[in-house]
Parts: sequence; C-alpha cells; structure tokens
Amino acid sequence: MIDQATRLNHVEEYYFSTKLQEVRALEASGKPIVNLGIGSPDLPPPPQVLAGLNQAMVNPGAHQYQPYRGTADFRKAIQEFYKNFYGVDLNSDSEILPLMGSKEGIAHISMAFLNEGDEVLIPNPGYPTYSSVTKLFGAKPVYYNLEEERSWQPDLEELEKRDLTNVKLMWVNYPHMPTGASGSEDLFRNLIAFAKKHKILIVNDNPYSFILNENPKSILKEEGAMDVVLELNSLSKSFNMAGWRIGMLCGSEKNINSVLKVKSNMDSGMFFPIQAGAATALRLPVGWFSSQNEIYARRKENMLKLSAALGCTSSKDQTGMFIWAKAPEGFTSEGFVDFLLHEHSIFIAPGFIFGSQGEGYVRFSLCATEEKIQTALKRIKP
Ligand SMILES: Cc1ncc(COP(=O)(O)O)c(C=O)c1O
Repeated sequence: MIDQATRLNHVEEYYFSTKLQEVRALEASGKPIVNLGIGSPDLPPPPQVLAGLNQAMVNPGAHQYQPYRGTADFRKAIQEFYKNFYGVDLNSDSEILPLMGSKEGIAHISMAFLNEGDEVLIPNPGYPTYSSVTKLFGAKPVYYNLEEERSWQPDLEELEKRDLTNVKLMWVNYPHMPTGASGSEDLFRNLIAFAKKHKILIVNDNPYSFILNENPKSILKEEGAMDVVLELNSLSKSFNMAGWRIGMLCGSEKNINSVLKVKSNMDSGMFFPIQAGAATALRLPVGWFSSQNEIYARRKENMLKLSAALGCTSSKDQTGMFIWAKAPEGFTSEGFVDFLLHEHSIFIAPGFIFGSQGEGYVRFSLCATEEKIQTALKRIKP
C-alpha cells in the first residue's frame, strides 16, 4: 500500500462533503429536507452572460489554450469593474490576475508566499479553507478571534501584543463570512498600517460585497494598500456563477507575478467562453445587483422570522448571503443542527465548522427560495 503524503495528516475532509451525504440519505428515505446549509446561489446568472458564453463558443480559437494571465478583454472588464464599482484604478496588464474562483487563489497565494513554518493570521470564525490550505503548505495557522461584542472586528491592539516575527500573511474577509459583519474604511486603513509595520502581506477575500450591502468597498481603495495588500474577488456570489469557477486577484505587479509563477505551472489558462461570459457580467449596470438584492432582502426578512421562531438570536444588520445567529441556550451548534435536521427536516450549518469562536452559533443560507424558507417556518410555527 502507498501512504498518503504527510502533509495530508492535518487536513480533514470538508464538513459539508460528509454531512451532505447524511442529508441526501435522509432525502432518499423520503424526508422532505429544506436545505438552508450551503452558500451556492440558486438564482440564474444574468441572461446576457449566457448569451456572451454561447457567442464565444464559436469564436475561432475559443477551444485552444488561453493566456496564463487570462484574456486581455476579461482583464479589461475587471479593470472597468474595479473602477466603476469600487473607485479603484488598476492596470489591466499587470495588476490583475483572473482565477478559477477565489478558492483557487487562496491556495496559489499560500504557495507563492509561504515557507514551511511561516505563521499565518486567520480569522476565527472564518472560511475554513484559509487554515486547511495553510496547513497543506506546512505553514502554521495563528488565529485571531472575532467576537460579537466587537461587532466581529479584529482586535489589532491585542494582536500588537503578540510576537509577530514569524507572521508572513494575514487573511481578512470583509464583508465577513459567516458573521455578515462589514469592514469600514477605518478598519482597512488600520490593517494597512499594521501590515506595513509588521511586514505582513494582507489578503482581503471580498466575494460578498454586492450582496445586501449598501456600500461595496475594496481595501485597495485605501492609500498605500498596493504595497501590502492583495484582494480576491469572485463572480460566484455576485453573479450567481459559482459553478463557472471564475474570480480574480488584484494587487501590485510584483505580488501578482509571484502568484502567476505558481498558477502558470498549475493550469493552462481558462476556457475562453467562460472568460467572455464573465466579462459580460462585470460590464452589467448596477441594476443587476439591485434586482438580486430585492430577492435576497425578501428572503432575509423570512429567514429572520425563521431564526426567531427557532429561538435563535440574530442581528438584522448583516451583509452577504447568510444569517448568522446564536443558537438557543443549552444547545451546542452541532447539537442544534442535528436536532433541526432530525426533528424538523431543516438543514443549516453549525458555527463550529468556522472555528471555535463559531461554537454556539448557526448559519442560515439565503440561497433558497422564499417558498422553501416559508415551508421551514410553517414547520416550526404552523
Ligand atoms: C469567504 C469565502 N471566500 C471564498 C469562497 C470561495 O469562492 P469561489 O467560488 O470564488 O472560489 C467562499 C465560498 O463559499 C467564501 O465564503
């Protein structure tokens, strides 16, 4: 028998990959499960995007290898998008790297910048991929706690008291998943000053800025950001294109080139029609986001009712496509999720999967129709 690489010893299978098997088995046994667990948009992509993809299929050269840096037109569309929606000026030739989703970027950035033993600051709670990828590359996750009392904002004063000598990279994710907290300009400026002082590369993972968020922001807008910050962005949530696997990385030419060194050895460009369709999406007027947000706002209203009916406490003031809520007294997050699944056939995500600070909380996904949310509500409050 061949042993797996030792780097896999500290990485576990993704919670959802095993839990969803249980959910599917319950469905197969006839249970009418309402799945409010996963953040995969159920709404369709913009119709213009599908037309753009189809037209691109018959383009001569569409089926050949594409440039490692992405097509010039897609990079131009990203440049326009950053200018129009965030007020950030980027050079489309050197400061933008198209990606197969931001999850890919998390791995490539880690590979490009981390040596074995380097420390990486990771939000707790936070997206689990930051720590699993850090461990895969032999670096060490060092968690910074986010707390409800501090509106889920990092405590940079507390971090300053730590020995940060070996910290090379810090993951930041505002609007934040799973808590729905927003990041302010002040926070971004403080983070940049912190990164400069301690020679840390900050990566802001920014896939949720257009969902139920009045004021989409990019950390790259702040002065001095390009020296110490990279930003990941994605079409998965903003344009309902999660399955397309398309996103982007923006930052200084030097940092982008380091990531390109990794990426150009891992894949051979992205399918041309996907990049063409994605370029169409990024050029849509703001009305696209308003139409999506009307739907998400109605879902959120119903989800808050469901959360309250279940005895959970949640703030109305959350951005993104989830409702983060405190589970009722006496339940662990996993215990509450299992109780709901088995007693009411409703599946939601337990907070512990996002880190120890998520214990006691649960996450409801807005990627479900109003009808489904109301079905769940009727089961709790007939
Ligand atoms: C915080 C965060 N970052 C990144 C991703 C991955 O996005 P993408 O589909 O662009 O890889 C997700 C998806 O759930 C996420 O929640």
